[in-house]
Parts: sequence; C-alpha cells; structure tokens
Amino acid sequence: MMGSRASAERAHTTVPTHSDKMSLPLSRSEVFGQLRKELHDDTAFHQSDVHIFIIMGASGDLAKKKIYPTLWWLFRDGLLPEQTYFVGFARSDLTVDAIRIACMPYMKVVDNEAERLAAFFSRNSYISGKYVEESSFSDLNTHLLSLPGGAEANRLFYLALPPSVYHDVTKNIKHQCMSTKGWNRVIVEKPFGRDLQSSEELSSHLSSLFTEEQIYRIDHYLGKEMVQNLMVLRFGNRIFGPIWNRDSVACVVLTFKEPFGTQGRGGYFDDFGIIRDVMQNHLLQMLSLVAMEKPASTSSDDVRDEKVKVLKCIEPVTLSDVVLGQYVGDPDGEGEAKLGYLDDKTVPKGSTQATFATAVLYVKNERWDGVPFILRCGKALNERKAEVRLQFTDVPGDIFSSQCRRNELVVRVQPNEAIYAKMMSKKPGVYFSPEETELDLTYHSRYRDVKLPDAYERLILDVFCGSQMHFVRSDELREAWRIFTPLLHQIESEKTPPIKYKYGSRGPAEADELVQKVGFRYEGTYKWVNPHKL
Ligand code: BG6
Repeated sequence: MMGSRASAERAHTTVPTHSDKMSLPLSRSEVFGQLRKELHDDTAFHQSDVHIFIIMGASGDLAKKKIYPTLWWLFRDGLLPEQTYFVGFARSDLTVDAIRIACMPYMKVVDNEAERLAAFFSRNSYISGKYVEESSFSDLNTHLLSLPGGAEANRLFYLALPPSVYHDVTKNIKHQCMSTKGWNRVIVEKPFGRDLQSSEELSSHLSSLFTEEQIYRIDHYLGKEMVQNLMVLRFGNRIFGPIWNRDSVACVVLTFKEPFGTQGRGGYFDDFGIIRDVMQNHLLQMLSLVAMEKPASTSSDDVRDEKVKVLKCIEPVTLSDVVLGQYVGDPDGEGEAKLGYLDDKTVPKGSTQATFATAVLYVKNERWDGVPFILRCGKALNERKAEVRLQFTDVPGDIFSSQCRRNELVVRVQPNEAIYAKMMSKKPGVYFSPEETELDLTYHSRYRDVKLPDAYERLILDVFCGSQMHFVRSDELREAWRIFTPLLHQIESEKTPPIKYKYGSRGPAEADELVQKVGFRYEGTYKWVNPHKL
C-alpha cells in the first residue's frame, strides 16, 4: 500500500518548489528525480508496491493525445513506482502496437529513448470489451489478476470516456474490478453533468459506488504551475495579504482566450458551449483560489473547505451581467479564420451556442463585497492567454495631476508564465513625473532551465500519491453548478442570440463595455512586453 491519505499528502507537500532552485537551475529529470526521492523518502510510500493504471476508453482521442503520452513521460522520467503496469480497455479490437502507433505523434520521443520506450510498451496490455457488459469487466479483472503481483496491486482507473457510458462503466468497475488487497482510485474527466441536476445525479451515482477519497475529478487548470502558485503567492508573502480585499482591489479579471475556433470539434462543443467548457470549471476554480480565505493547513480538505466557502458566497449569475458571443469568419483572414462557428459542418444549423462569454460575479462576504469578479473566455480570439488580474483602486489624494494609472497584479498562467505588478515609477532622468512600469517575474528568464511539467503529469502523479488538493470535491462541483445553472437554462430556453464577433478579434465590444461599466479601468496606455525576449 502506498499509505494513508494523510501521509500521502505529507509526501505531496514536501515536493521541492522550483523557487528553491532559483540560483541553481535544474533540468527536468533532476527536478523530477528530487520529487521522486522526496516522495519515496516518505516511509508510507512503498515504491515496491505494484500499481496498475487502467485506461478506460483507450482507443479515444483523450487517451491517445493526453493520457498515454503523460504516462510515458512519467515512466520515462522514473517518476512512477517501479512496478507499474498499464492496461487499456475499450470496445475496439486493438493491439498495444496499434495504440503505440496512434499515440506516437503526441509522445515527443527523442532518438535515444527507443529502449525506454520499448520498456514502457512492454508494461502495456490491452483488453477489448463492452462497457455495458459485466462479463467484459470480469475478463478485465482476470487479466489484472494475471499481471505480476496483480492480486495485491493498487488500481487506478482513468475514465477517458463519453459521459453516456459513465454509469455502466463505474458500476461494472465496482462490481468486477476492485482490488481487494490494494487501494482503488477512479479518475474522472469533465463534463460532470450538464447542470446542477444532472451533475447531482452523477455525483450520487458515483458516491453510491466509491468513497470521496477514491474519486479524483480532474480540472486540468488545477495542475498548472501558475494556478498552483496562487496559494503560495497569497499566503507565503506578507506584502499581498493586507491589500487582498475590497479596500484595495477594484476588480478581479480572470481571462481565458484561444486564437482558434472549434476546428471540427464543433459537434461536441455545441452540446456544451463556452460557459460549460471553460467558465464554470477552469475560470471558477481560479476565482476560488484568488478569493478564498487562508486554509488551516495545506491539506487537501482544508484547502477545498475554503474554496467551497467562497463559492457559497456567490449568487447565481444573471443574464444582465453576461455578454455572449459567437464568432463569424473573417473574410480577410487566412485558412480557418475565414470560417465562422456556423460554417463548422459538425455544428447544427443556426445554433445559438456561445463561443465567447463575459460574466460578472460577486462574492458576498466581508472581504469581497461589491468587488466585481469578471470572467472572460472565448474561442477564435486575437491571442492565446490565460491570466488572473487584480486591478487595485486609485491612490487616494492624488498629487500627480491624474498622471498615475492603477496598479495591477497579473499572474499569467499561459503562455509564458509570469507574475508582474504594474506600477508607477519616476520617469528616469531629469524628470519628476510618474511613468508606468512593472515588477517582473518572468519564469523563462528567472528559472531559465527549469522545464515545467504538464498539468496532467502533476495531476496523475498526485493520484498515485493520494493527494486530492488539486482535484474537485463533490461539494465544490455542486456550488459551481448552482452558480451557473439558472443562466444556462435561461439561455437555452430563450435561445438568447449571441453577439457576432469576428474570428481573431477581441470578442464583442459589448463585453468591454460591460467590464468598464462594473469598474475595470482600461487605459490602453500600457502593454506588457516581455523584456527578456532575445
Ligand atoms: C479544455 C476545454 O478543458 O481546456 C477546451 O474543453 C480548451 O475547449 C482546453 O481548449 C484548454 O486547455 P489548455 O490547457 O490548452 O489551456
């Protein structure tokens, strides 16, 4: 056994932070080597235990593009317990070789890794079966037991599956495939339902089969370096604490932008739309990390308790605080940019699904009352960017003839991870006027040789370690749906027409007007440029 949850969490929290290595940049394998050593130093972590990682939906897109490549990287870097086996399960009649060929384009294998890669695939096997048939799962179980040490092995089930088969698969896992000697953990991917009711149904189904400690709901934004850094930044520094509230913060903006459209995935996307795809999960998770109170400790449940409390203070979003958009082709654009959302052949004709949304939320508690939290997300926009931006209030008692701009603290999640604070400084030279500049922590220059792990690498490693801090708990999920469900139902029943915006633009101008109306000040006088770019 890998040990109790508490000890596994201890192992997690001892993971070295990259900041430790500021003066001594470490390579990727060194960083991981240290992480692994620290995890294994924990007496409760028995590296000798056998682990079996089962990929349900092994023939699908997610498995091919994300899960197999991530398992390969973890295996390659020696981060997984030595005796780990990987078992794919899906309906298709496949071989491990066919899986290897399908995954190769995404695995980033370099020349001298052939032997390691062969070792990885020698640990792989594949079973085909029907998701609805218990007998298929009984066959799977026989196979799991037949692996070396299989009878004692810990089992991790990754559900890379369409929601339509979740019910049957989880039931069949529970009835046929649970390890009786090792532990069992089940990793689930969004969508976790479509609204409060369907999500509650799924949650109660899962909780009838597994304990909350066995369920790992992935929101991959929680595996991103800068999202994880929000807690350290807030609670590991003295300077931010006293100003992190309604007295000093004018508004908080959480942004997700992608410069491409649905790229043929429109059929899937149209069922969900941008609010379910990004806002209700990724952006709301970032909001809760920005707004929560300091947890009693860094244990998973203490952290998630605080996140839930914040969500409980948010009232359901109303349509008057929302701008919806849908992209149209840009006749002057190139390639895909010429095509609008409705030109995607997989999108139903005349769909009113939103590909862009801006929403304003308020956290009604003592710290944040009245401060707008602006959530903005969209596809086919002018840039790729995810960031958290706190805009501070004006300096009271101005003595610089209105030349000062508001301070901002920006945590740039991607691309090009950075933390920077926009501030005023004396214009250098003979002048005595203020000028906008920034305090800048750009990761690529500060931690030049540190390769940050992919979000999925961290999260899958966390599942092995038994740390649930970066996974969504059922009560968090419930609150998230409570906040968005009335809006989603209204939009769907009224078929609220989204505002058209051009592919490659900033989105509808009405969204900018909304954020200005609620208090975000955009001067347009300043644009952050990466000062370290060669
Ligand atoms: C996914 C959404 O959850 O996140 C996608 O379903 C989106 O639509 C993706 O493209 C963005 O993830 P990342 O890590 O590329 O920012």
